[in-house]
Amino acid sequence: MSAPLPVVVLASGAGSNLQALIDAQQLPGYGARIVAVGTDRTGIPALTRAENAGIPTFVCALGDQPDRAAWDQAMAQHLLAALPAESGPRLVVSAGFMKILGPAALRCASVVNTHPALLPAFPGAHAVRDALAFGVRVTGCTVHLVDAGTDTGPVLAQRAVPVRPGDTEETLHERIKVVERDLLVRTLHRLATRGYTVTDRKVTIS
Ligand code: GRF
Repeated sequence: MSAPLPVVVLASGAGSNLQALIDAQQLPGYGARIVAVGTDRTGIPALTRAENAGIPTFVCALGDQPDRAAWDQAMAQHLLAALPAESGPRLVVSAGFMKILGPAALRCASVVNTHPALLPAFPGAHAVRDALAFGVRVTGCTVHLVDAGTDTGPVLAQRAVPVRPGDTEETLHERIKVVERDLLVRTLHRLATRGYTVTDRKVTIS
């Protein structure tokens, strides 16, 4: 069995998706190993989860940099430091990371993002609220590759979640997150163990 693929996970908040990946990487043959957890802020549960699991962390806060371009460069440096070239293809998982990565960071690595809606419907930071406000009966989650746009990259996997009468943003998001964690864990396993190609936005996992 080949060595697990090293990945960096980026998170901004509760970190339940991160925790699902931390748990999954213990499974024999999972195929991916979290070598660092990066955040854009201090004092969040995601950092505590990483520390509890003994995973190195870094904080790359926009407010610590003169501008967004400098933040992008700083993030790129963190990613390059955590993912040495000799370890194979560089893969980053954005799991509830609430910043748009810039071009320097995206040049360093392939980035997978999880989003709590069925893209291309409801991109952006308020996907669950927007889906509820629109009145959809079914929403869900999408795991996709990140490109320069906001939630516009090629889709890797999607799953539907029905909206229930009386759902609030919180109740619906919690139900989506249950499905989202499982989808993210399974998708990372497939990417790490099989590899993938992208042709005309269509992703083929080998
Ligand atoms: C997830 O639903 C993610 O898609 C969204 O924010 C949530 C993060 O949850 N961007 P957690 O921090 O992983 O618990």
